[in-house]
Amino acid sequence: MSTYKVAYFVGSLSSTSVNRTLSRALVRLAPDDLELTEIPIGTLRLYTPDLDDDYPPEARALKDTLAASDAVLFVTPEYNRSIPGALKNAIDWASRPHGQNSFDHMPAAVIGASPGMIGTALAQQSLRGVLSYCNARQMTSPEAYIQFDPDVYTDSGEVTDEDTATFLREFMQEFRDHVQRVLAVLPRD
Ligand SMILES: Cc1cc2nc3c(=O)[nH]c(=O)nc-3n(C[C@H](O)[C@H](O)[C@H](O)COP(=O)(O)O)c2cc1C
Repeated sequence: MSTYKVAYFVGSLSSTSVNRTLSRALVRLAPDDLELTEIPIGTLRLYTPDLDDDYPPEARALKDTLAASDAVLFVTPEYNRSIPGALKNAIDWASRPHGQNSFDHMPAAVIGASPGMIGTALAQQSLRGVLSYCNARQMTSPEAYIQFDPDVYTDSGEVTDEDTATFLREFMQEFRDHVQRVLAVLPRD
């Protein structure tokens, strides 16, 4: 069985992040042929073009992990109706230097959780615009706007509600199929 390497970003730096819990659930529920690795974003300094010729180690590692991956997954909160700055900063590092955009043709998916009913819909809309410019090949359906219910998840990402588990499992299966389809026409070097 061939496996697909999926790098994932958690868009929150909070020590109590519900999106980190969601990411743990997604790792648990993913098909066996997806191998998920988180790319940390909390130690990245703010992006500046001044360092395009000399990326700091954390940013170099981010680009190396993306280069070694088949696909990318974003698990993000909504901040002020958009993407958290820390996540946008990570995307900016990955998209540069000019001509070395790590997301070019990369299969991608977006998901997020919030305590409120909007379930990160506007953050995801904003993120989709950014990823579109970066030429990532996004899964457009299913969408997943998760209203986080703390009673449904353990800290380690076990999902105790069967309907929620089925939804998240199917989301990851659809993502696997999307990755397979994109790579069939746009293989990674
Ligand atoms: C700076 C800031 C801005 C926020 N803006 C929004 C928002 O626009 N929409 C929303 O639904 N929740 C918003 N929230 C609440 C977050 O959804 C909530 O804090 C959530 O737990 C963040 O995800 P995390 O636990 O993974 O960090 C905001 C929270 C912060 C700290």
